[in-house]
Parts: sequence; structure tokens; C-alpha cells
Amino acid sequence: DLAPDLVVVGAGFFGLTIAERCAAELDLKVLVLERREHLGGNAWSEADPDTGIEVHKYGAHLFHTSNAKVWEYVNRFTDFTGYQHRVYSQHGGEVYPLPINLGTINQFFRSAHSPAQARELIAEQASELGGKEPENFVEKGVSLIGRPLYEAFIAHYTAKQWQTDPEKLSADIITRLPVRYTYDNRYFNDTYEGLPVDGYAAWLERMADHPNIEVRTGVDFREHREEYVGRVPVVYTGPVDEYFDHDEGRLSWRTVDFEREVVDTPDFQGCPVMNYPDADAPYTRIIEFRHFHPERDYDSEQTVIFKEFSRFAEDTDEPYYPVNTPEDRAMLMRYRDRAKAEDNVLFGGRLGTYKYLDMHMAIGSALSMFENKLRPHFADGEALT
Ligand code: FDA
Repeated sequence: DLAPDLVVVGAGFFGLTIAERCAAELDLKVLVLERREHLGGNAWSEADPDTGIEVHKYGAHLFHTSNAKVWEYVNRFTDFTGYQHRVYSQHGGEVYPLPINLGTINQFFRSAHSPAQARELIAEQASELGGKEPENFVEKGVSLIGRPLYEAFIAHYTAKQWQTDPEKLSADIITRLPVRYTYDNRYFNDTYEGLPVDGYAAWLERMADHPNIEVRTGVDFREHREEYVGRVPVVYTGPVDEYFDHDEGRLSWRTVDFEREVVDTPDFQGCPVMNYPDADAPYTRIIEFRHFHPERDYDSEQTVIFKEFSRFAEDTDEPYYPVNTPEDRAMLMRYRDRAKAEDNVLFGGRLGTYKYLDMHMAIGSALSMFENKLRPHFADGEALT
């Protein structure tokens, strides 16, 4: 057992990046506490027991970034495949490419519009409100892409995601709905994209594989807080409201239920992600994991799929997406003030900041915390605030 110089709570990408940098660059002894039985946080993946296919246990994880520093950093721990993400959507018994692009538009309207003609058509359909300020989600959606496309691809999908009639959702949930007037259906626009060649678990384990790092899984910080807080610097990546015993209230989250099925066919849907934007399917989308790694030649005659169901999180559910109501934002401000006043404890990651962060953002923000707070503290004796 190490007498730690630093305690990190949570072994997700944020916590592991902090631990790795402090161990490798500053030669600190880092103790990482993780309450799950495995490290890696929500990016964790494992081999499906029936098919051997790598499944992302907490939802599909696609790595993409335009941040050259982050790309250089992550490549120290894993190589990436040339995977490029593409999504399809099954509406009214037909399959369309997403994000909405010229292919989607021409298939939907049974047309052969040029980019300029398609632009004109969508602009005309989007002008339905005649310049009136959108008052709810529906009006906002219609004002962005016109009613026909909104109703086909967005209305029910959103209702399923939020379990709420879109008429009752605020207009500011969306600021834009991207429409591409080309046939490009690559999902991400980032400079770098790919999946870890030998999986997320191997990548995450390599980050923790340093003689100065000890990861203790199955350990909840809440039961050990007196041993560490005030005695040794702490980087906390758990839920910020939980740290303060929900004194200011509970921040609200959406969660996703995954219904796993092993199907007796080597290929269920021909692509990794199929959205179901119609009301008759109760799920929002189906993930078929084997398609994330076409280079692997999985030899299973079966395939594993996850159907995704979205809903508001209860206290015992995994928190996935911040709901971010005005009440949540006001509560978050109070928690932020309290977090700032907490000596020698830094809050980070998606749970510690109540922010949806992609992996590259979690890693990037951990690298910044290391450079701007932890290095000055440990190397130059500056206070940790
Ligand atoms: P993360 O949640 O991973 O880790 C926090 C860890 O802290 C957890 O392991 C938790 O158990 C632990 N913990 C909390 N409280 C504790 C306590 N009291 N004691 C001990 N341990 C405690 N990103 C992307 O780039 N591409 C994608 O495709 C996706 N897809 C995606 C799908 C879904 C459904 C979600 C919810 C998220 C994504 N993401 C994503 C985002 C990605 O999951 C996210 O960027 C990382 O998980 C962030 O890492 P963190 O370390 O911040 O949190």
C-alpha cells in the first residue's frame, strides 16, 4: 500500500488522465478510488459472454477529436482503427441516412434536387412560422428544418428521449439541427476519429498501468472521506451534489436502459447504429456492436444488439445526460460556490461539473487541470484552489 500524495475519486477518463499525468510527470503516488468493480468509468467495454463481441457496457462510445494535444496523448496508450461513424434512421418502413443530408432529403421527397433547390425547399418549409419567435421545441424544430422533416425524424424521437410531449419542451433544448446540402453522411466533423484497436478496456487499463498508481475498485469514497479530505489533495470526479450530501437538492439527469439481445444471425442490421424515430417502436435506437470493428472478423454466427430506452433517472439509476432545467442551473451555481470553497479538493469530469462531456473533452479538461492546478501546486508549491 502506498501513502498517497494525491487521491483521485473515480477511474473514468478524467480521473485516469489526472492519475497518469501526476504519476508519470511529477512522480507522485496516486491512489484512485472507484466504486464500481472495474475501472474506466462509462467508457468501459467488455467481451459479450455469448458472442465474444466487444460491447460498450454503458452505451456506444465513438472516439473523435480535433484537439491535436488530446490526440497525441491518447495515442500513447492505444492505436486507433480507421472507423468512421455513420448512422441510419428507419422511418415509415424505409431506411434513411443521417444526419439529414441531401440523400435524406431527396429520398424523403422522392426528388433529385440539387443542393440549391434543396436549400430553397427547406427554407420555404422552415418559414411556416413567418418569423414568429418559436415558443416551444416543436416550433423551434419546424423553424429550423420545416415540418415534414421535423415530424419524420425529430418529433417522436425527441418525445421518446425526454418522455415528454415536445410541445411541453423548451425551445432552447436545440439551437440548431444540422442539415447538409451534400451527400456526406459522416457523423462527426472532427480531424481525428477511430476506435481503440484492442478495445476500450485495454486502453483504460494501460493508462492506469504505472508503478505509482494504485486503483482500488469496489471502494466508495463516501465511506472513506474522513481518511483523506483535509489530509491529502483530492481530485473528485463523482457527482458534485452527492459530495455535499445533496444539501442544495438533487441535480436531475436522464438515464438510458439497455436491453441486450443475442440474435441468431451473423448480421442483424448491416450497420452499427439504427435510429427509430417513429412512435411505434418504444426504443430510440439499436446498436449492433460487431459493426464497430469490421476489421476483427468475429467468428460468431450470432450477433449482440442493445435496444436503447431513454428516461428520467431515479436516485439509484446511472446518471447519463444532465437535464439542465433552470432549477438545476441555479442549484449548480450553489454547488459550484461550495466546491470552490473546499480546500485541497478539485472537482472535475462529467459528474463533478454536471456537464455532458465527450471523452476527448473529459481528457482535455483533465490535461488542463493538471497543467493549470496540479503541476503548479506540486512542483511550485502553489495553493490548490
Ligand atoms: P465517468 O462517469 O466515466 O467516470 C466517473 C467514475 O467515478 C465512475 O466510474 C464512477 O463509478 C466513479 N465514482 C463516482 N462517485 C464515486 C465515489 N463516491 N467513489 C468512488 N468512485 C466514484 N463520449 C464520446 O466521446 N463519444 C461517445 O460516443 C460517447 N458516448 C456516450 C454514450 C453515453 C450513453 C454516455 C452517457 C456518454 C457517452 N460519452 C461519449 C461520454 C463519455 O462517457 C464521457 O466523456 C466519459 O465517461 C467522461 O469521463 P469521466 O471520468 O468524467 O466520468
